[in-house]
Amino acid sequence: MSDLYALVYVSRKTTGAQSDIDAILRGARKFNACCDITGALLFNDSNFAQLIEGPETAVKQAFQRIKRDPRHCDVKQLSFEPTQRRRFGEWSMAFVDSSQQLRELEPLMWSNDAASAERASQKILDLLITLVEHDEVAGGWLASSTPAVQA
Ligand SMILES: Cc1cc2nc3c(=O)[nH]c(=O)nc-3n(C[C@H](O)[C@H](O)[C@H](O)COP(=O)(O)O)c2cc1C
Repeated sequence: MSDLYALVYVSRKTTGAQSDIDAILRGARKFNACCDITGALLFNDSNFAQLIEGPETAVKQAFQRIKRDPRHCDVKQLSFEPTQRRRFGEWSMAFVDSSQQLRELEPLMWSNDAASAERASQKILDLLITLVEHDEVAGGWLASSTPAVQA
């Protein structure tokens, strides 16, 4: 079986400050580049949704760090699954501001049953792929060392 895993979680923001968002992205870039992790982060005024992908142990360790971060709370894992290929292999972390689409997913992603979590995870993945493919990335960095778009 492939050692490549993808994890999707959602959380509630505890900060609206742009400086915090910038710092999150800088930290994500630094750690992800070191740990062979790629992914994409979606946000609106109240929530984050993020997919991280990479070797199993690296993804688990990154998620432990992410869960401890006080800039968000109610961190809820929606899925953690082996995957054949990276979906965001170009991005150490792409960053997308998506108020309306994420708002529409809120009832599903905060619902308590497993089936809803699975559907929410798939919808977040679809949304991230669509937005990143359509160049709606607000910031983030390519997995190569050169900053692609400054947040
Ligand atoms: C919404 C959000 C997304 C984050 N994404 C990542 C990430 O992809 N990779 C990462 O290493 N840290 C990420 N962080 C930052 C970590 O939570 C943490 O600050 C950083 O990894 C340093 O961890 P440490 O202080 O325990 O060493 C994120 C934080 C938040 C709030």
